[in-house]
Amino acid sequence: MYRFLVSGGQPLRGAVQTASAKNAVLPILAACLLTEETCTITNLPALEDVNMMLQLLRSMGVAVERQGRAARITAAGRVSTEAPYDIVRKMRASYYVLGPLVARFGRAKVSLPGGCAIGARPVDLHLRGMSGLGAKVTIEHGYIDARAKKLAGAALMLEGAKGPSVGATANTMMAAVLAGGETVISGAACEPEIVDLADFLNCLGAKVSGAGTPEVRIKGVRRLSGAEYRPIPDRIEAGTFAAAACITCGDVEIRLCRPDHLTAVIDVLRRAGARVETTRSSMRVCCKGRAKACDITTAPYPGFPTDLQAQFTALLSTAAGTSVVTENIFEGRFLHAMELARMGARIDVKGSTAVVHGVERLSSAQVMASDLRASAALVLAGLAAEGTTEVLRVYHLDRGYEKLERKLSKLGAKVERVADST
Ligand code: UD1
Repeated sequence: MYRFLVSGGQPLRGAVQTASAKNAVLPILAACLLTEETCTITNLPALEDVNMMLQLLRSMGVAVERQGRAARITAAGRVSTEAPYDIVRKMRASYYVLGPLVARFGRAKVSLPGGCAIGARPVDLHLRGMSGLGAKVTIEHGYIDARAKKLAGAALMLEGAKGPSVGATANTMMAAVLAGGETVISGAACEPEIVDLADFLNCLGAKVSGAGTPEVRIKGVRRLSGAEYRPIPDRIEAGTFAAAACITCGDVEIRLCRPDHLTAVIDVLRRAGARVETTRSSMRVCCKGRAKACDITTAPYPGFPTDLQAQFTALLSTAAGTSVVTENIFEGRFLHAMELARMGARIDVKGSTAVVHGVERLSSAQVMASDLRASAALVLAGLAAEGTTEVLRVYHLDRGYEKLERKLSKLGAKVERVADST
């Protein structure tokens, strides 16, 4: 186990490059199960979640060859159709194998993911997608069991009470590409990662149109081929560096990112007083002096992403004035507020709203986060705090940020990874 020692007070300056998006890579790796031909996924980020997905594929009998930052994946021969609890409990996104397995092999047995630190995360919409395409779905002994001789295209409404679901849209799209006839998904998630998955599926020979809008159409094909594919850059990582630039009153150029995927985030940065300049593939974020308070409401894309809420709550905790942060996607996603309070932040949480009274300075403390993005928020808070903050349990960070301490250090931050003594 490792922790970070973060010494605050250094304005971040320089350039940093984002990696490929974790949330695009994970469904794309699962989609490799849809074909017996080899798929090569390039520019893979060095993340624990990516290792875990590759481990899951290997455990199912899929050939996975890593060559530097690429992986060659071949799901030929005997492939097991089971995703065991042991792996799924470590990474929820393992449920992405559900759609591809039922579509290609007619059977999938995937452990139910169970509870999660950011709130209730049901899978009813995933199951609605599978049964809507004709699979017989049962839940027994903690496993989802889905069976179908051949899936059949259908008109499906996938929006839930909390809005569209990224995971259910991706899973249903992957299942529908090999179904007979046409599928129309209404209430589809519009996230860039859904568009990226559709682009990858189309490279394999699938016929997916409308991805990025609430209505996705899929014409089923008999079989898919292999392909080489490079996933999109990580908008959440880019947004995290942007917040880090602001909280330290720094000046950072974020290279290899997609500012067009970050419109709502750039709007918040500007309202907080940052100067943001963009090109097609980079953005420069410069913040002279303390940020200004501003309100944030998380929403499905193109709204402000829930995956940046914690990092921006950290930023607003040192802003001048009072901000209201409303979390509309995962209601329990404010556990970081209590940890930030240990660093002197003044945050009142009531239900899905946090009222953040900006303080001039945070002070260092030992803190611990319960999930990936909350851990990033604590690192950001540490960059702005007086003294040395210890962020425990950084394995959460390693799931979704590639070498965060190295990238921040290159920008002038004082961040060190140390092994726990016990
Ligand atoms: C994905 C992202 C996660 C991000 C989230 C929202 C991956 C691997 N993870 O998670 O980082 O925070 O999108 O942008 O890409 N819901 C249901 N029933 C379902 C599924 C979801 O009610 O069957 C609800 C959820 O509880 C939540 C909302 O729908 O309130 C959106 O969740 P969803 O988009 O499915 O999130 P994930 O795909 O799990």
